Amino acid sequence: MARAAEPEWTNPLRDPHDRRLPRIAGPSALVIFGVTGDLARRKLMPAIYDLANRGLLPPSFALVGFARRDWADTDFTTLVKDAVQANCRTGFRDEVWDRLAEGIRFVAGSFEDDDAFAELQRTLAELDETRGTDGNHAYYLSIPPKAFPVVLSQLRRTGMAQASGDSWRRVVIEKPFGHDHDSAVELNELVNSVFPEESVFRIDHYLGKETVQNILALRFANQLFDPLWSSHYVDHVQITMAEDIGLGGRAGYYDGIGAARDVIQNHLLQLLALVAMEEPVSFSPRHLQTEKIKVLQSTRNIMPISENSARGQYGAGWQGSEPVVGLKDEDGFAADSTTETFAAIAVEVDTRRWAGVPFYLRTGKRLGRRVTEIALVFKRAPHLPFDDTMTAELGQNALVIRVQPDEGVTLRFGSKVPGSSMEVRDVNMDFSYGGAFTVSSPEAYERLLLDVLLGEPSLFPVNEEVELSWEILDPVLSEWAESGSPDEYESGTWGPVAADEMMSRTGRAWRRP
Ligand code: BG6
Repeated sequence: MARAAEPEWTNPLRDPHDRRLPRIAGPSALVIFGVTGDLARRKLMPAIYDLANRGLLPPSFALVGFARRDWADTDFTTLVKDAVQANCRTGFRDEVWDRLAEGIRFVAGSFEDDDAFAELQRTLAELDETRGTDGNHAYYLSIPPKAFPVVLSQLRRTGMAQASGDSWRRVVIEKPFGHDHDSAVELNELVNSVFPEESVFRIDHYLGKETVQNILALRFANQLFDPLWSSHYVDHVQITMAEDIGLGGRAGYYDGIGAARDVIQNHLLQLLALVAMEEPVSFSPRHLQTEKIKVLQSTRNIMPISENSARGQYGAGWQGSEPVVGLKDEDGFAADSTTETFAAIAVEVDTRRWAGVPFYLRTGKRLGRRVTEIALVFKRAPHLPFDDTMTAELGQNALVIRVQPDEGVTLRFGSKVPGSSMEVRDVNMDFSYGGAFTVSSPEAYERLLLDVLLGEPSLFPVNEEVELSWEILDPVLSEWAESGSPDEYESGTWGPVAADEMMSRTGRAWRRP
């Protein structure tokens, strides 16, 4: 179901007609469940501070941590400060921190503990009174999925999910959104039984990245690219998210989940939707979602799946100049773990624009280097009026959206090599964010947390997108479940042999980004 309501402009400082003005959140409290986790420390706390430092949080903002730790407010405040000092983007300033720290509270207890939730309720009521948070509360569930039911039912039982008067209540959910289609439907039903869909914010942090939002600018603010953006000129599309890190320390989350559920179901299918969608009527949340949903509805696995997908698990090898162990020797992983750390799939988008163009999606840990990119690889020119030897080094033209690192866009095309012969070779024309703009990009979590507080849902997938993404992935996962263990690949390489084979069968090859 798409969101019914368009967002209201809750912030009196924001002129709805001038989108260039900074968007400042209104009075609000953010409650983080799972505050002792890695995500909270590395991303959420620094993002909150960076928003405050950029003047985007009001004085009437409060942060409440909830966890099973015997901590006082001051212990938690110290933890937040350490996390901010270690990871903030905008530089630590005492005066900003001091103002933020006045609104930090901690509530100790387990998710089953009714008394702890009563204490949370008292704490929020106290903040509404003293800090002026005005009954506007966002609950961030940075917790394992198995804890969702209990936390959601506590929020319902205590009435904390229920807004009154002009105030709002919102819930923020971190992936994984289920582990297959049916469990995602169940999760969506559970969440929607407590919070209406317009109050649910599912975080896919890729949508908060500047370079991902730039896909819309590149496609819809320019005349140059659109005529080429279809099966008439595009041979295929490659979407790659490669990481060089391994999974040491993350077994609890990752084992049994694997690369396809962790990354393809969410980040990569969202990138596919943005690349393949038609121009939305406007950038309102409903119009954007409508176009993304149409893409996901039209996306099919290329058959047979066994030949058009690949998975692997990293073995020992190298990460940079360091020798590293294989997954099965990482802490917390069993010697017979079948969890894949590399996944690739091939899909088609059955629309007039894209019919017949394969979209290859791949992701992996412990690959050659950390890079995320979207490459539109163009068909070869139908005729080359050169001697064959003169174009031996000429590849296919490509437009590459460099999501990270080294954010920007590259256009790859053939150019004459200087000299007396007409030899043609591939060259790159680059736009880089670092060179073109002086301001650095905000972190994805800054943008997304601010949007939660503003009630701006454009960058959050709705339940239908999540369910459709699982419909695409489920057949691949079933095929893999029946075909034994993933092949091993050496750490520091570009994945299993099966991944290269899947491309070479079609006469194509993965890019080496
Ligand atoms: C997360 C995945 O969603 O994205 C992680 O769960 C992955 O496994 C991370 O490491 C990568 O994020 P980024 O922003 O560094 O590309």
